[in-house]
Amino acid sequence: MSERWTPDSWRTKPVQQIPAYPDAKSLGEVEAQLATFPPLVFAGEARNLKKALARVAKGEAFLLQGGDCAESFAEHGANNIRDFFRVLLQMAVVLTYAGALPVVKVGRIAGQFAKPRSSPVEKVDGVELPSYRGDIVNDIAFNAQSRTPDPQRQLMAYRQSAATLNLLRAFANGGFANLASVHQWMLGFIKDSPQSRRYKELADRISEALDFMRACGLNLESHPELRATDLYTSHEALLLGYEQALTRVDSTTGDWYATSGHMIWIGDRTRQLDHGHVEYFRGIKNPIGLKCGPSLKPDELLKLIDILNPDNEPGRLTLINRFGADKVADHLPQLIRAVKREGRMVVWSCDPMHGNTITSTTGYKTRPFDRIVSEVKSFFTIHGAEGTHAGGIHLEMTGQNVTECIGGARAIRDEDLNDRYHTVCDPRLNAEQSIDMAFLIAELLKQERAGKVKPIPAVAGF
Ligand code: TRP
Ligand code: MN
Repeated sequence: MSERWTPDSWRTKPVQQIPAYPDAKSLGEVEAQLATFPPLVFAGEARNLKKALARVAKGEAFLLQGGDCAESFAEHGANNIRDFFRVLLQMAVVLTYAGALPVVKVGRIAGQFAKPRSSPVEKVDGVELPSYRGDIVNDIAFNAQSRTPDPQRQLMAYRQSAATLNLLRAFANGGFANLASVHQWMLGFIKDSPQSRRYKELADRISEALDFMRACGLNLESHPELRATDLYTSHEALLLGYEQALTRVDSTTGDWYATSGHMIWIGDRTRQLDHGHVEYFRGIKNPIGLKCGPSLKPDELLKLIDILNPDNEPGRLTLINRFGADKVADHLPQLIRAVKREGRMVVWSCDPMHGNTITSTTGYKTRPFDRIVSEVKSFFTIHGAEGTHAGGIHLEMTGQNVTECIGGARAIRDEDLNDRYHTVCDPRLNAEQSIDMAFLIAELLKQERAGKVKPIPAVAGF
């Protein structure tokens, strides 16, 4: 792959999962218009994220990445964004404090719209229509007009991303994320739960520590790092026409950057070595992710790393593992060994969601919390055994009180899924389950630090 790269060189390769737009002219017009719009993120921010991720690759920080499976036009409200941000802050503070590591915060947000599908069509009562591919492509309603890919949706997704990002930046820097507000991030509906008590205890200790430092004469107001945080954005860059339109030269370095989000990733279904997605990603300088599922062989991974991170730059490449609780022990160790043997610097992150999806007895797509936990534990155990850093977590989660994943502290059952099953795509952890997960990971990070992650029976119970 030494051919010349351009933002549109992916167009000469085969591509998977990109919809056929019936109206090519209007698609071209939309892409041309997007190309004139301001970038959503600035290249310098993407470089800062890369530096932060380089610390993760070296074992000095932890990556917390999470958000909706798919953002939707219908749920674009301030409360939704605020509640997501609150939960992410709570998780980050739990991990930073208990894990005693800096936490790199990355949302699956402000651009996470396009979805790969296992089948291009969906059949209901004998009627066959194109599958729903995320709000940036078509509408979820099951009728021919809704399901026809509509280029105008890309403009709506761009504007929604801009508005979301604007609010996130305000929250991150405008006072909301001040550590002095650590108690106020608690969401109303989780009060009086075991998680809320645990969280309150931790928040009390943080407040005490701040008071102590103040009493020692430290002027906390003069430390902006206590008052603000960095929240980066990320999404699966599936719709390459949209990505290309937002690919820009950074005037300070002359390098190309994807400006649709700080970090973008390649899905497990679109990582073919000679296809369009890998071609697009090799030319942009952002930090990038690569989803690694059970079908990925070690030699194939090394070839992908050669193409995507030829200079072995730490922080450039995050390998997001999504094997499933019952498969992680069969696949992850060999990938880790291959990467280590070749001396490649990567961030290892665990996506415990996508390999653990089942259909409930009541017909819902769900994920058992136990299996999610089991994959996370195995991930830490395996890294402990291989002597590598369990660098991060990648979650589908929401700040809302939904019932989409079964189990967890409130023991959501199959028959409860119907209560508040709101996702337009995959089932997400709700706020309580997310905080629970943060406490669990904090514990595992402490063990990692103490150098004694105990081997657990890989996936006892199933
Ligand atoms: N700036 C630091 C950080 O982002 C500390 C911090 C400020 C923080 N507000 C926070 C940490 C909220 C977690 C959550 O890590
Ligand atoms: Mn998903």
